[in-house]
Amino acid sequence: MRKFIKKITHPFLRVANKMWLLKPRKYAYKGINVLVHKEVFPPHFTISTKILLDFIDDLNLKEKSLLELGCGTGIISLFAASKGAIVTATDINDKALEFLKKASKKNKIPLTILYSDLFSELNNNYFDFIIINPPYYPKNPKNKKEQAWFCGEGFEYFHQLFKQQSERKKDNHIFMILSEDCDLEAIKNIASFNNFYFQTVLEKTVLKEKNYIFKVLKM
Ligand SMILES: C[S@@+](CC[C@H](N)C(=O)[O-])C[C@H]1O[C@@H](n2cnc3c(N)ncnc32)[C@H](O)[C@@H]1O
Repeated sequence: MRKFIKKITHPFLRVANKMWLLKPRKYAYKGINVLVHKEVFPPHFTISTKILLDFIDDLNLKEKSLLELGCGTGIISLFAASKGAIVTATDINDKALEFLKKASKKNKIPLTILYSDLFSELNNNYFDFIIINPPYYPKNPKNKKEQAWFCGEGFEYFHQLFKQQSERKKDNHIFMILSEDCDLEAIKNIASFNNFYFQTVLEKTVLKEKNYIFKVLKM
């Protein structure tokens, strides 16, 4: 595995990171606050959440329906809702959903918060925007926390995601963040197998790592 996993698996950093996250830590963006539970994807040490937040800041979301698929802390969902979007936040991590329900109340920003494995609970709901910061390292996750990072040895997350997305007819703008640290070719090939292609809408280098926001389009 490459840079980031190397960084986070360095024994000192791994212990420091684990210790620091033992109690819930605050993460804030433009006046919105969330608490990050140790079992939930921490936006502090990763750049992807912040890049997505800055990206959606420039979108006109007023009265648009928006799904954050795999919401983690839900900071993106809360921020989108604060900009006028009608937001559904989903995840398979119960702790994430429990903490997000509290953050929604505390920030006084209402959201629909749902347990959903990919689109399983969203069959009759369609969205103007779908925002995805996926797990992308090819390893089998051992628990809920690892599902934030690992997409399965055979990229099962992406196979399922694009298969299910291809069966949906009415979603409009789908945005996914990835980085050069993942196997972009493998993920693009799975998308292509399901008749999707990626259009780069943003490229940003942070700490020498190139991050991309792709618009996922039908062929
Ligand atoms: C990289 S984290 C991103 C969290 C958040 N969107 C953000 O940008 O901070 C990926 C999230 O996807 C969730 N996830 C993984 N597999 C999922 C699935 N099959 N269905 C729904 N959510 C999933 C994880 O629990 C995790 O919260």
